[in-house]
Amino acid sequence: MASSLWRQHILPFSLILGLLAVATIAGDYFLHWLNLVWVGRYLGIPGTLLIMLSLTYSLRKRKIMISGNPRLLLAFHEFTAWLGSLFILIHAGIHFNAILPWLAVMTMGVNVVSGLVGKHLLDRSRRHVQGERNGFQLQGLSKPEVEQAIFWDALTLDAMTKWRKMHIPIFMLFVALALGHILSIFLFWGWK
Ligand code: HEM
Repeated sequence: MASSLWRQHILPFSLILGLLAVATIAGDYFLHWLNLVWVGRYLGIPGTLLIMLSLTYSLRKRKIMISGNPRLLLAFHEFTAWLGSLFILIHAGIHFNAILPWLAVMTMGVNVVSGLVGKHLLDRSRRHVQGERNGFQLQGLSKPEVEQAIFWDALTLDAMTKWRKMHIPIFMLFVALALGHILSIFLFWGWK
């Protein structure tokens, strides 16, 4: 049970996130090594486009788009959002001049993690807590006793559910910050 929880959920969650970190460092390192630092500056554009493309899933989910297999679109959403985030992280690199784009990067990070928490941890935990509740009920415990027994797990699940709900408001904040950064770049165009 514990090993399947680890293998099916915590491991892929950590791998996807870890891979993003490793790919960012490797990408930035190679650009510096090949003297192609300027490429990173332009990676902001495909990164932004990929994140925009990932929104086709949300359009389908809200029935603004009426065709397309939702399952495939979800996989496409996850892939393009991940790749877009990678491009943006390499684009951000290790330059610290302006606060606005870094706030945008932070909200992007929270967004990626909240999406992954939703996908890999929440469903499983929900089933786990429900399973516990059923088990205790079968043992003949009263309702308050059951709630007492699963108190901490239920609390953790509740925190995770709230975290998942942040995905959309945080995304809105990300859009506002990213737009601020992009507009200021194009207004004060002077790329070296
Ligand atoms: C159309 C899309 C984008 C374009 C054209 C663009 C362009 C640029 C340019 C030209 C710079 C260098 C500014 C300088 O050195 O003074 C820069 C820096 C940066 N960008 Fe973008 N960007 C885009 C999207 C994004 C997005 C979506 C994010 C964040 C989520 C982001 C985060 C950053 C960060 C963190 C920096 C480094 C800021 C610093 O030096 O402190 N960019 N961007």
